[in-house]
Amino acid sequence: MQELTPEQEYDSQLSKPKKKKIREVPPKIKKFREIRDAAIRGAPEDKIKAQKAKGKLTARERLAYLLDENSFQEIGLLVESRCTDFGIKDKHIKGDGVITGFGTVEGKKIAVFAQDFTQLGGSLGLAHARKIASIMDLANEAKIPVVGLLDSGGARIQEGVDSLDGYAEIFYRNSKYSGEVPQISVILGPCAGGAVYSPALTDFVFMVEGISNMFVTGPEVVRAATGESVNFETLGGSMTHASKSGVCHFVTKSEPACFRLVKELLTFLPSSRYEKPSVVVTKDPVTRKLRLLEQLCGMDPRRPYRIHHIIWWLADDHKFLEVHHDYAKNIVVGFIRMGGLVIGVVANNPAHMAGALDINASDKAARFIRFLNNFNIPILTLVDVPGYWPGTNQEHGGIIRHGAKLLYAYSEATVPKVTLVLRKAYGGAYIAMSSKYLRGDLNFSLPSAEIAVMGPRGAIEILYSRQIKSTKAGEVEAFKSKLASEYSEKFASPYQTTSTGSIDEVIEPLRARERIIRAFRLLENKRVAGTTPKLGNIPL
Ligand code: HXC
Repeated sequence: MQELTPEQEYDSQLSKPKKKKIREVPPKIKKFREIRDAAIRGAPEDKIKAQKAKGKLTARERLAYLLDENSFQEIGLLVESRCTDFGIKDKHIKGDGVITGFGTVEGKKIAVFAQDFTQLGGSLGLAHARKIASIMDLANEAKIPVVGLLDSGGARIQEGVDSLDGYAEIFYRNSKYSGEVPQISVILGPCAGGAVYSPALTDFVFMVEGISNMFVTGPEVVRAATGESVNFETLGGSMTHASKSGVCHFVTKSEPACFRLVKELLTFLPSSRYEKPSVVVTKDPVTRKLRLLEQLCGMDPRRPYRIHHIIWWLADDHKFLEVHHDYAKNIVVGFIRMGGLVIGVVANNPAHMAGALDINASDKAARFIRFLNNFNIPILTLVDVPGYWPGTNQEHGGIIRHGAKLLYAYSEATVPKVTLVLRKAYGGAYIAMSSKYLRGDLNFSLPSAEIAVMGPRGAIEILYSRQIKSTKAGEVEAFKSKLASEYSEKFASPYQTTSTGSIDEVIEPLRARERIIRAFRLLENKRVAGTTPKLGNIPL
């Protein structure tokens, strides 16, 4: 018989039918797998159908959208409520209506919890609360962000005060870990009663159009207490909180879009206050010229424009993640990268209320600045501000108190601060927008800047009121224009402030991107002696 070559020998072995080995699974493992798989399957089909009918994903689908594939490590899958009232314990709901654990997003570790509305309406009992509290504790020790996916009927009625105490445990941790690790809340269903205060204590709140609601008292209670008739959406829907109350920072049209945005936000953040955000290499040249700023210098100073255009042109690859897009549009805040470094931008927006500061703008910017300062993110301030918005609404609403928050936030911030005055910077608003003596590190201006106690028109009306009154009616306008241009020449330019040192440099508009990047690189390892070690991001 002809001998086989080694290859033929190998092939003949492969083609031989193999005896199938049946591996006996030990009964204990079988039982464990049954229990585990049933717990993972979760609620009965009808509850899942009801969830889908509302246009919502299930809690596990949400985690799959958010986390890197196979990265989720669940903790507390088999936890059950100990409550014996109203038959809760007999229902043996594994996990107690919330999925908790750890995973990665684009390789970055996070702690995550997802309330499961299909189990007891995602309501919060003591065991449910303890699961959340426990991953928050671990996240704080491991120094990683916490992301909460909320979809819940609120305090579990059957558990009485235990569920209220459970909320207190979470609120306490939200506050204690504030400024320590980033905390993000994603509202994906109802969030009612005192439950809204956990998201409100976190750094960023996301909502999805049509499915997210937040309110302290629901429409029924509102009707009973005040006679006012209002629906869920108007009372506490996503646009209400994004544009009116300012509770919500990001709104998306769908859940998948929401998770994409959460992931994008996480790329800008460090994992804790002990780290800096990661630097991303860019091909966008540092020396890219900014023709747009040249055009701005030639424009009528009263002409409005959207500050977003300038931010896009300053940013690496023209990418800007705006925070609070629909709220207080007179100030714009968000994240960009410049020369690869993550930078938080705070900018007046002349397209809205001429960019003037008001109560909401002050609160919005102050809280964002405090977040940036907590997490080692340098601040770029773009100034084009005619002053504070006047009127009784503002005065009676407390513009003095709210405006002071902006002064406080900039003054206490020790991260690198670079300021660029684009056009107007008048009065108290000039001071508030990271001016030199509030400890801006490097304060630049364009040649188009007008820095003064007030605008030329207002100033001459006060300074020359007698002369204006005694001028012939037909000549008043020409007289005022002459005075205004004389005033502008002297005060409404960057040169007086440059001569006093309030502005460090008037810069060439074309080279603004390069100058700003060089400034941030210079300040990269800035340390300020004697500063408060831990601040926290108190809701403002
Ligand atoms: C126990 C609850 C629950 C709750 C809902 N469920 N909320 N179980 N405690 N708080 C249960 C329901 O009994 C139901 O159980 C299942 O969840 C789904 O609820 P549905 O009402 O069928 O769903 P839907 O029609 O979509 O209405 C959702 C809802 C409504 C708007 C959230 O359930 C609701 O109004 N719930 C009560 C909200 C509330 O007032 N919560 C307390 C807030 S006070 P079955 O078995 O039928 O599936 C609060 C204080 C916190 O939270 C204080 C912290 C300091």
